[in-house]
Amino acid sequence: MGHFVNVEDLSSNQVMHLIDRAIAYKKGEVKHVTGHVVNMFYENSTRTKHSFEMAQYRLGMHIINFEVQTSSVQKGESLYDSLLTMKALGVDTAVIRHFDDNYYEPLMNLGINIVNAGSGCGSHPSQSLLDMMTIYEEFGNFETLTVAIIGDLVHSRVAHSNMQLLKALGARVLLVGPKWYFNERMLQWGEYVDIETAIEISDVVMMLRVQLERHDDVMLMSAEGYHESYGLSLERQKRMKPHAIIMHPAPVNRNVEIADALVECSQSRIVRQMENGVYMRMAILESVMEG
Ligand code: CP
Repeated sequence: MGHFVNVEDLSSNQVMHLIDRAIAYKKGEVKHVTGHVVNMFYENSTRTKHSFEMAQYRLGMHIINFEVQTSSVQKGESLYDSLLTMKALGVDTAVIRHFDDNYYEPLMNLGINIVNAGSGCGSHPSQSLLDMMTIYEEFGNFETLTVAIIGDLVHSRVAHSNMQLLKALGARVLLVGPKWYFNERMLQWGEYVDIETAIEISDVVMMLRVQLERHDDVMLMSAEGYHESYGLSLERQKRMKPHAIIMHPAPVNRNVEIADALVECSQSRIVRQMENGVYMRMAILESVMEG
């Protein structure tokens, strides 16, 4: 048993093991994992919340869905005290999404496994692993690949986890987006390049949602202006390598970071990412429960 809070904690061997286990589940392996799990989402979610639930059902786990809006959080109960309560009720694993980048740090010694389902602008390790699974299914390796991560880099927990993990796995990482969505600290994981170069030389074109809910001010460009300068337009898609794939963690702002017609085009793997999320989250829960 253990925590799953950050991709930095994972070795390349552990990543490959999780990908292998997720692929085994996708091929039909059936397994029962004993455990009582609570899902605690302090930020909204469609994919992560429900794919964790689906993974838990498939593994035969006992599930509690902690509803923030109807719980004592509304009376001021802290995350720590809610989790202390879950522990007392007999829960052994908590899947948590929270707006604080480091929410999990004070929770590590409570005797309950923490699975990070997204922390503020910090990290989104389960999304990153399902993205690695999707890339591995397509190309069978990471070392020969150039991956462009394009968009609102600074507010994206997916971007942070993916640039770290891709670099650790040997891929070349290109970072693209407006200067005001870029941070020099990211240069330890990738090169900051212009979008036209990135589109033409990348094997994976990973678009990011513009995260308006995390911006202090209004968007600095119009939706049309952003699409023209930094979006995956139909014109840019034509200049991608023929074998290159399009990814996006979703939800998608259609016609902002990606043209509507490209979301389900033949090069897009966006729906497959969602499908793979169930299998990768089964592998993560198995690993957390069984150590
Ligand atoms: N990709 C992702 O985390 O989506 P949700 O916010 O819908 O979970």
